[in-house]
Formats: sequence, C-alpha cells, structure tokens
Amino acid sequence: MKIAIDGPAASGKTTLGKRLAQALGFLFVPTGAMYRAAALAHRRGLPLEAVDIRVTEEGRILLNGEDVTADLASPELDELSSQLAVDGAVRARLVELQRRLAQGRDVVMEGRDIGTVVLPDAELKIFLWATLEERARRRQREQGGDFAEVLAALRRRDERDSTRALAPLRPAPDAVFLDTTGKSPDEVLCLVLKLVEERRAHLAERAHP
Ligand code: DC
Repeated sequence: MKIAIDGPAASGKTTLGKRLAQALGFLFVPTGAMYRAAALAHRRGLPLEAVDIRVTEEGRILLNGEDVTADLASPELDELSSQLAVDGAVRARLVELQRRLAQGRDVVMEGRDIGTVVLPDAELKIFLWATLEERARRRQREQGGDFAEVLAALRRRDERDSTRALAPLRPAPDAVFLDTTGKSPDEVLCLVLKLVEERRAHLAERAHP
C-alpha cells in the first residue's frame, strides 16, 4: 500500500507521516527533506549529477553518504529548497529517486506532488491543510524567530510552491482533504488510521467480492 501526504509548508505532513509509517510498519519518505538536502548540496557547490540522496529505514537523510538530517531545518533552507524546487532537472532527479524508494514496498510519502506526480496510483491520498496563522505558530515553535517574519516567509513559500509551472502544490482529484487547524497530532493520526482501515476494507472487498 502506498500513502501520499501532500500539503503546504508546516501543515503537519512530517509529524503525521512519521507516526503513521511507524504505526503501520511502512517506510517513511519525507520528500521535503530530500529537496532540503538538494539545496544543501547546491549551497556546497555540488553539481546535480554528483548528488545522491538516500532515506534510511530509521528516517535519516544521507547526502552522498553523510548524515545531514540535523542540518535540514533552518529558515535559510526553507527558502532555498523552495527556490530550487522550481528547477525541472532537480525535480526529475528527485522524482526518480522517490519512485525508486517506493518500488515494491509499503510507503508513506510526504511532499507537494506525491498524489499528483510521484505516486499517482497511491491507494490513499491525503491533502493536509491548516490556516496560515496556525502553520506560522507551529513553525515559530520549532524554529523560533519573529512571528510576522515567519508568517511572511510561509506566505511567500506557499505562493511559490503553488504557482510554479512544474508539479505545483495542489490536491489530487481523489485526495481526502484534512483540515488540521486546532487538531492535535494524535487526533490527526487517529483520523488517518481510520481512513487507512476503510481503504484496506474497500480494497479487500474489490479483490474478493
Ligand atoms: O515540506 P518542506 O517544507 O520540507 O519542503 C521544502 C521545499 O521543497 C518546499 O518549499 C517545496 C519543495 N518540495 C517540493 O517542491 N516537492 C515536494 N514533493 C516536497 C518539497
């Protein structure tokens, strides 16, 4: 089973994805972290052909073998990864890596274009959403900084991620829209686990009517 989670920045995709994958025993693939690792490589001056990004079973992100997980969450990489994500060559390379990671196994994958481009055949697609203000509060709790600045940076990123020509952020037509505003991570996980059960029952019914 493949589960796609898409949504804007700080909507809770990684929190949900990690816990969901753990509960189901699936591999978790945080593609946002992969774009961040690509941005780190770009900042280090590495050419795209020389960039290898891996996701381990333990959720670590390896850039050419080096564990860079702890370096990926910063306002600078928030912005640089979003800028780099408009580049067709970068996207093509990362989509290829992402599909390879998902091949022949159960995965939970989060990002912006998972349900629309990377895994269009995913059995369950979730579009996570929360108001801009709630997302800014969450991001400020994680990374600190001035609230107005955090909010402005998120708005800028939302705008770029949803209006770019290639694979813009947008719900797949068959995605379940989930507003997480005011909901705890536990509540969101519970709702999604119910959706997984419903989906599994539906698939079993289709296989053995
Ligand atoms: O989810 P995130 O904030 O960690 O993602 C960082 C940036 O990477 C985001 O602003 C847009 C880009 N991204 C993308 O274009 N496609 C994805 N599947 C995941 C992330």
